[in-house]
Amino acid sequence: MQPTIALVTGASRGIGAAVARQLAGPDTHVLVNYREKVRRAETVAEAIRAAGGQAWPLRADLADPDSVRAMVDRIDSRFGRLDTLVLNASGGLELGAAPDYAMRLNRDAQLRLVDSFLPLMPAGGRIVFVTSHQAHFYPDRPVPDGYAPVAASKRAGEDALRALQPEFDRCRIGFSVVSGDMIDGTIIVRLLERRDPRAVDARRNLAPLPTVAQFAAAIVDAATGRDRRDTVYVGGSDYLDQSA
Ligand SMILES: NC(=O)c1ccc[n+]([C@@H]2O[C@H](COP(=O)([O-])OP(=O)(O)OC[C@H]3O[C@@H](n4cnc5c(N)ncnc54)[C@H](OP(=O)(O)O)[C@@H]3O)[C@@H](O)[C@H]2O)c1
Repeated sequence: MQPTIALVTGASRGIGAAVARQLAGPDTHVLVNYREKVRRAETVAEAIRAAGGQAWPLRADLADPDSVRAMVDRIDSRFGRLDTLVLNASGGLELGAAPDYAMRLNRDAQLRLVDSFLPLMPAGGRIVFVTSHQAHFYPDRPVPDGYAPVAASKRAGEDALRALQPEFDRCRIGFSVVSGDMIDGTIIVRLLERRDPRAVDARRNLAPLPTVAQFAAAIVDAATGRDRRDTVYVGGSDYLDQSA
C-alpha cells in the first residue's frame, strides 16, 4: 500500500511539531515544513524516524511565492501527490514584521498553498486549517493587546478558505478548521502574557488551558478523517456558550 503523504506547515516547533510527530507512522510520510530553523525541523524528523515513521524536513518561507513554488515542485517530483495538508504555520507577532505581513502569511499564503497543492491532491485527501478562538471569533470577542492584526488576518484566511468549499467538494477533498483556545506552554502565549497578562489570566481563570498534545490530537483527528466536522473547537467552552 502507498504511504499517506502529509505536509504540516510550521512543524519545526510548537503545535506543528507535535502534529507532525502524532501524525507520523509506518504508513504516513510526514513532510516537516519550516521557514528557517533547520536544526529544529531535523530534530522533529529524526524523532519521527526513531519511532519507526518516515519524515522529510522541507524548507519554504510560505510568505514567499517562489519559495512555495519550489517546495511544491520538490513534493511533486519526489511523491507525485499530496494526501494531507495541515495549514498550521502562522505569524505576525514577530518583532519588526511589516504591517502587511500577517495578512500575507495568514491569508494570502494559505490560499496560495491550497491553490498550488489541489492539483496534486487525490480524491479523499484532506486539508486542515489551524486557528485560534481569538481569531475564529474575531471581531466579536476581545483579543489581547497587539493581537488584533493577527486575529483579523487569520479570520480572513479562514473565510477565504471556506469560500473554496464548492471546489473542495468538486475535488472530493475534505476540509476542516480546528480552532483552539490559548494553548498552555506555547511561545505565543508567553509572548501575549508579556504584552497583556490580564488577557491570559482571564483565560486561565475560566478553565485550564488545553495542552499542545491535546490540541495536536484534535488536529490529527481532522487530518486523518477520524473527525470530519467542518469546525472543531478545543477548549474555551465559554466562547461556544456565548455564541449559542
Ligand atoms: N499558541 C497558541 O496558544 C495557539 C492557540 C490556538 C491556535 N494556535 C494556532 O496553532 C498554530 C501554531 O501555533 P504555534 O503557537 O505552535 O506557533 P509557533 O510556535 O509560533 O510556530 C510557528 C511555526 O511556523 C513556522 N513559520 C513561521 N512563519 C513561517 C513562514 N513564513 N513560512 C513557513 N513557516 C513559518 C515556524 O518556523 P521556524 O521555526 O523555522 O521559523 C514554526 O515552525 C497557528 O496557526 C496558531 O494560530 C496557537
